[in-house]
Amino acid sequence: MEKNFFPVNQRRLRADRHIRELSAGVKLSHRSFIQPLFVDEAIQSPREVNGLNGVKVETIETVLHSIEQSIKNGIHKFLLFPVPAKQADTQFDFSYAVSVVKAIKSNFGEDVWLASDLCLCSYTSHGHCGILNDDHSRLENSKTVEVLAHYSSLLANAGVDCIAPSDMTDGRIGAIRSRLNSLNMEEVSIMSYAAKFSSQFYGPFRDACHSSPKSRGLQNRKTYQLSPANVNDALASALRDEKEGADIIMVKPAALYTDIIAKVKQQTLRPVAAYHVSGEYAAVELLAAQGLLKRDAAHLEVWTALQRSGADIIISYAAAEAREWIENMEF
Ligand code: PBG
Repeated sequence: MEKNFFPVNQRRLRADRHIRELSAGVKLSHRSFIQPLFVDEAIQSPREVNGLNGVKVETIETVLHSIEQSIKNGIHKFLLFPVPAKQADTQFDFSYAVSVVKAIKSNFGEDVWLASDLCLCSYTSHGHCGILNDDHSRLENSKTVEVLAHYSSLLANAGVDCIAPSDMTDGRIGAIRSRLNSLNMEEVSIMSYAAKFSSQFYGPFRDACHSSPKSRGLQNRKTYQLSPANVNDALASALRDEKEGADIIMVKPAALYTDIIAKVKQQTLRPVAAYHVSGEYAAVELLAAQGLLKRDAAHLEVWTALQRSGADIIISYAAAEAREWIENMEF
């Protein structure tokens, strides 16, 4: 026994960049990436977002230019966040979102796959993701779902390829699917924010979209978004959305929830998307700005972890840089 024992050399597979590359189980591709886009009706020129290095809130005109740049970088898939100028409690004006979708699709047609976020948090005066009751103590689920289904039909009619509901009310996927089908828009897909956790890491995004909750009742989104401590709720919500007709199942945030990505991936045959959210992105960017890590290598490490965990699709604020970084990636 003793005589035949020799130490197994695991380091031969780590010896140089060529063999490390050959033996890598995870290989990234920019083809898996979606670039988020912010457009704001109330601004005249692009606005920086605190913490989101390289990301701007744009006007309709400038967003077309950004898309063109992204296409040059091999990125053709986008997730749009339209921010309307006016907020309300129950009667919302979706015409700005519709005009942004029309502008993008009439300019780029099939060269671009456009998903639009579907939520009311930039539309409501209190910043919650749906309609609230009179004393703001409760989210009105059915009323919200009805408005969202209507909003989805306007976006689909404007030419969007995919609806991405991020509100976390119950039954919205089924309601949206049947509304779209009844209007003969079966081909428009749904990417559900199915496992979306109540998180601190949406901070920079809420700044960009003016969507922080500021009601006189509910102070946070914990009655509709998932608890970070509840795995079963996340899985149940994800599988429920799949049954209701979601084509893509999203987990969000991403890097802190790789266990959820892995579990969702095991239980669904749908593609799984991981959204590396604004606060997660900003954390990397701030460390890079301090010289405490290498920006491209750090994002590549995060993306590798997401894909290793089971993500088929990655939503990242640095998507437009993915092709170049991946091509030059050091194994
Ligand atoms: C809207 C929405 C949020 C994000 C995407 N859609 C914020 C929230 O739920 O408060 C977060 C995205 C990010 O932080 O990058 N409901």
